[in-house]
Amino acid sequence: MKNTKGKIKVTLIILLVLLSVFLIFLSALLIRTYTFSAAGNQDRSSFDTVVAGFAANFSKTERTRLLDNLKGALRIPTVNRGATDFDSSSLEEFGNFLPKVFPTVFSSNLVQHEIIANYSHLFTVRGSNDSLQPYMLIAHLDVVPALEEEWDVPPFSAEERDGYLYGRGAMDDKASLMGILQALEFLLKRGYKPCRSFYIGIGHDEEVGGNNGARNIATVLQSRGIKLSFLLDEGSFILSGIVPGLNKNAAIIATSEKGFATISLSVSVDTGHSSMPPKETSIGILAAAVSKLEKNPMPRMFGQGPERGLFEHLSPQLRFPLNMVMANLWLFSPIVSRMMEKKPSTNSLVRTTTAVTEFYAGIKIKAIRVFYAPCPGLITAVSKSRDRKCYKYKLGLCIANTDTRHYLKLTKQLYRFIPMILKQEDLTRIHGVNERISIKNYEEIVEFYFRLLQNSDLSSLPPSHISSCNL
Ligand SMILES: *[C@@H]1O[C@H](CO)[C@@H](O)[C@H](O)[C@H]1NC(C)=O
Ligand SMILES: *[C@@H]1O[C@H](CO)[C@@H](O)[C@H](O)[C@H]1NC(C)=O
Ligand SMILES: *[C@@H]1O[C@H](CO)[C@@H](O)[C@H](O)[C@H]1NC(C)=O
Repeated sequence: MKNTKGKIKVTLIILLVLLSVFLIFLSALLIRTYTFSAAGNQDRSSFDTVVAGFAANFSKTERTRLLDNLKGALRIPTVNRGATDFDSSSLEEFGNFLPKVFPTVFSSNLVQHEIIANYSHLFTVRGSNDSLQPYMLIAHLDVVPALEEEWDVPPFSAEERDGYLYGRGAMDDKASLMGILQALEFLLKRGYKPCRSFYIGIGHDEEVGGNNGARNIATVLQSRGIKLSFLLDEGSFILSGIVPGLNKNAAIIATSEKGFATISLSVSVDTGHSSMPPKETSIGILAAAVSKLEKNPMPRMFGQGPERGLFEHLSPQLRFPLNMVMANLWLFSPIVSRMMEKKPSTNSLVRTTTAVTEFYAGIKIKAIRVFYAPCPGLITAVSKSRDRKCYKYKLGLCIANTDTRHYLKLTKQLYRFIPMILKQEDLTRIHGVNERISIKNYEEIVEFYFRLLQNSDLSSLPPSHISSCNL
């Protein structure tokens, strides 16, 4: 009797100890969840109201003009199919179009305009204070092809429907290109004189690698010995309803992007008659290699690149239990990465993806393309725009390629972001069918650049967010 009682007592004590350990553990997770503040989430209100600039209260006439100008840009079919397969007359037409719609930019004595590599554009805007390091905004004027029969409206018609402007290039990248120049046009008209010099680079072949446009613009700047304080390009968006568990919009600034490598595999075997085939044919050998590649994906690296900081920054805004998961990635990251690898769209955030893109059968077979995963990066801060209508910006990873990579020698402060609102259903419009932008959002984009140009005049800019793995 006594013995049994003792045993029960010991079991109870063990259970109680285990329960308390579990409760302490759970409280630790919860405490971290609700007090979590990722490094860099500090208050940046000191940068909120420093610049007393021109208000972005665009008049009705200005709003009509900015819309008409974007329509004009969308109607020029600057399609790029390959390094030597582009429509040179459209690229030239675009070059003639710009001075027509931005007369102040082209006539201002503060602005120098140069044509680079026949179709790209470099604007140098002189600031009044030479001791401030210049910065640069870049965009591109070429677009990918569009199959007219798949679209609801002709892709180069710039048709307006339900508050949206449809057209190839509306999102990638003419809203940004036109937004930058439009903001400068409005500012110069108001009598704005920048303190800090800046450059605007418009490439003409980003969609096929930027080896003529962006690369030559960067070479010109390098030959002039220019170092930039920062560079802003396309690459990320304001995500709306895309991040699971998040009710608000998230403005993501990509501080690094994935690279890629293309690998060709080929096999030659002694040719034989198909009635007396060798044991292994070249097709069989290559098929086995492809199958091996697909069965052995690259290792999961989730949590080692800027995506970790991104999810940690977002965690206070997420619904339970996702907030607990993201605030405690030290514990949950293996589970999160296993869930993310299930969908192709999130799998690309987890690892180097491998895609067989070409397969030539017959005497020889070749070509397998491999895209590299994020390498470990550094995530630091969240900043705020000048007025109260602001987003907290999160830093992230861009999984596509941009022109940014041609500018790596000019600065380490690389940002990829357009304040373009992107919903789940918009993801397939970029490079896809029915690309469009809402008229309201385009006005906001012009407003964003209008503020950014003025805010960049601050003599000390907020600390940079250098990623150690900019590609
Ligand atoms: C914009 O606001 C400024 C000052 O708040 C005012 O002087 C100006 O007239 C306004 N411009 C327009 C176009 O409404
Ligand atoms: C510019 O155009 C000329 C004449 O067509 C051509 O020879 C040259 O290669 C072009 N330059 C670049 C960088 O594309
Ligand atoms: C130019 O910028 C430097 C560096 O921030 C500053 O010290 C100087 O006062 C500025 N000069 C003028 C005229 O604003």
